[in-house]
Amino acid sequence: MIVARTLQEFLQARAGFNDYSVALVPTMGALHEGHMALVKRAKELSHYCIVTIFVNQLQFDQQEDFTRYPKTEEQDIRLLEQHHVDLVWLPRVGDIYPKDFATHITVGGPSLLWEGEKRPGHFSGVATVVYRLFSLIKPHIACFGEKDWQQLQVIHRMVEDLNIPISIFGVPIVRETDGLAKSSRNRFLSQEDHQKSALLYKVLKRSHQRLLNGEVVAEVLQDAVQQLSDNGFEVDYFNAVDGQSLCRITEWQQNARLITAAKLGSVRLLDNI
Ligand code: PAJ
Repeated sequence: MIVARTLQEFLQARAGFNDYSVALVPTMGALHEGHMALVKRAKELSHYCIVTIFVNQLQFDQQEDFTRYPKTEEQDIRLLEQHHVDLVWLPRVGDIYPKDFATHITVGGPSLLWEGEKRPGHFSGVATVVYRLFSLIKPHIACFGEKDWQQLQVIHRMVEDLNIPISIFGVPIVRETDGLAKSSRNRFLSQEDHQKSALLYKVLKRSHQRLLNGEVVAEVLQDAVQQLSDNGFEVDYFNAVDGQSLCRITEWQQNARLITAAKLGSVRLLDNI
């Protein structure tokens, strides 16, 4: 596995893959089995797999969240090596945002509600960094997790709208044995909250089953929020949406998605089904 840090090192290594198909897995590090599922998929889909680790300040709305984002570089590199990644790039800020950089990508549609509403500027930061990575790395394929369902739809929208010649693949959510979706932020849960957190997926599953049984959407959602609130969750949203546009739906439909964000202590958990 090649570990590149400077842009020059990266481009030199990238040139070695020129005649082959390349898949990209963009990450912010603090890697876990969820990220590795993307790596596995990327390797199935192409000759070479490139992973980037870059904690993108542009997508954080609070300075505090950015500075306390976990950094486990050595461990990350070891894990990527074990999974036979071909090239990992840890860009410097100046490689991604050179001096005088002044262009931002703002995606409308699927980025407007939910996380977009709660975290103004977040998806613009994500779209801008992903576009920069795409234009520097020029992969044929890129893999993103369904864990961040809304992010995945925002990327699909951007790629379609800007006619970017890259195929986007969504990878199913990897969970802990108790059902909690794996996340770099789970390490901040207290032991007690970690135990409680499993309820989020249980409620998603139960609500999903009730909707499949034809129960009224509004009632199912109300019960879910009630149950989570009763158990110490501070629910930002728990909603039924169209899986692509992220618009609210009032009747369960084929490509629908249940999405939720809820806080336990200081940790904000995202999940969907
Ligand atoms: P990060 O949170 O590091 O996640 C990198 C990728 O891993 C994302 O596509 C995310 O959806 C996926 N992922 C994380 N946990 C997962 C899980 N439990 N199961 C499946 N996939 C999972 O998302 C970002 O970084 C950034 O916004 C980024 C796209 C890199 C842009 O900065």
